[in-house]
Amino acid sequence: MSKERVSRRQFLSYTLTGVGGFMAAGMLMPMVRFAVDPVLKTEGAGNFIATKQKVSEITDEPVRVDFTFKQKDAWYESEVTNTAWVYKNGDKIVALSPTCKHLGCTVNWNTDKEHPNQFFCPCHYGRYTKDGTNIKGTPPLHPLDVYPYKEKDGFLYLGKAEPRKEA
Ligand code: FES
Repeated sequence: MSKERVSRRQFLSYTLTGVGGFMAAGMLMPMVRFAVDPVLKTEGAGNFIATKQKVSEITDEPVRVDFTFKQKDAWYESEVTNTAWVYKNGDKIVALSPTCKHLGCTVNWNTDKEHPNQFFCPCHYGRYTKDGTNIKGTPPLHPLDVYPYKEKDGFLYLGKAEPRKEA
C-alpha cells in the first residue's frame, strides 16, 4: 500500500476540478450538438425518391410500389425500403402509405374477401376505402397518409408521406 496520502488541499483541488469539468461539459454539449446537428439530419426527407414504376403503366387498380433510398444518420448510412399503394384516379396519381393509422400494421389492397376493393389491415380488421379513407366502425380513426408525387422521365417519384387533410 502506498504511504502517500492525499492532502486536504489536493482532495479539494481534485474534487473541484472534476465538478468544474462536469459542469463545463454540460454547458458545452448543447453548443457542440448545435454545431454538428446538420450532420445528424436524415437525408432524403422532403426529397423526391425515384421508383421503378413507370407512370404509363399505372392503372386504376392499386399496385404495390417499393422504393429504396439511402439514409444517413451522422456517420451511419443505411438503405431504407418504403412502400406505396399507387393507382390512377382520372389524370391524377394517388400514392397511399401502407401504414395503418390504428397501430401501424401494413395494409393490403383487396385481400378481405367479405369487403372487396378496400384496403384491409389484418391486425385488427381495419378497413379503408380505395382513396384511403378509414371506414367508420373499424379501428383506424384517420385516413391513410398520402405521398406527394412527381413524374420524371416517365417514372414515378415519391416524396415523404403526409397525413391527409381531413374535412
Ligand atoms: S393496426 Fe391496423 S387495424 Fe389495428
